[in-house]
Amino acid sequence: MAIHKAVIPAAGLGTRFLPATKSTPKEMLPVVDKPAIQYVVEEAVRAGLDDVLLITGRSKRTLADHFDAVPELEAALEAKGDTERLARVRESTELGHVHFVRQGQPRGLGHAVLQARHHVGDEPFAVLLGDDLIDERDELLSTMLELQSRVGGSVIALLEVPHEQISLYGCVEVEPLGDEPDQVQVTGLVEKPPVDEAPSDLAIIGRYVLHPAVFEVLERTEPGRGGEIQLTDALQTLAGMDPQDGGGVYGVVFRGRRYDTGDRLDYLKAVVRVASDRPDLGPDFRAWVREFAAGLDD
Ligand code: G1P
Repeated sequence: MAIHKAVIPAAGLGTRFLPATKSTPKEMLPVVDKPAIQYVVEEAVRAGLDDVLLITGRSKRTLADHFDAVPELEAALEAKGDTERLARVRESTELGHVHFVRQGQPRGLGHAVLQARHHVGDEPFAVLLGDDLIDERDELLSTMLELQSRVGGSVIALLEVPHEQISLYGCVEVEPLGDEPDQVQVTGLVEKPPVDEAPSDLAIIGRYVLHPAVFEVLERTEPGRGGEIQLTDALQTLAGMDPQDGGGVYGVVFRGRRYDTGDRLDYLKAVVRVASDRPDLGPDFRAWVREFAAGLDD
């Protein structure tokens, strides 16, 4: 059976973006003119995952509003004959089936994913983290879905990062899997290890295809790093389990373009890169960036 459910945790407090995130969820911060969360939902839908569950928390009501219709605004644009803006307003409503559940308490990524248990049931599903934007020209999720349907278990996305940055991520130990160099068997996982204890430079990035056995495992996972229930710890348990019981963890090494919107500097870079590539804004924006950058040398 094809996987068609995606879970997007969006309950974080967004403290790195204060004061912007004092009353606006960080997922609603725009990358050019579209909220970051919409790119992620679009990516899920493009990969065939048309049932999307957002795990939200308090003060996240605008997220639900964003995926809902706005009759007054739509009527006003329709009356003016502004079909272009009308289409832009409707884009997020027409994406797929977007559902919401609240996390209640921020007890970590593993705990957030556990809130999806009732909605997901007993089938494999994808998890997409909103801070990671994957360029739509580069394949990742569909490769992961294809691998999961072939080998079962769970599949995670990996990125080779500079050694000194590995302690910002979940880190993995891997073994080759078949002839495809970018597909690996994951034999060990550790959440944000100190640089000198990291088993590799392969970092977990925010795309997962999980076997439903993860829910049972998360129920028993004790708080780990930072006192939070870590998805990485649950995956470590799954990696050691029998495939017949839903065990086995595999990785797809991503070599494409990824933009991190969770960090202020990387967020700025993401906005510049996305704007440069936009057919409507790109040509003028690139010309300005060139001029601006030349002026920086002075
Ligand atoms: C989470 C995961 C971590 C992963 C990262 C990717 O951490 O716990 O394993 O490497 O996302 O973005 P967070 O960035 O939420 O602290």
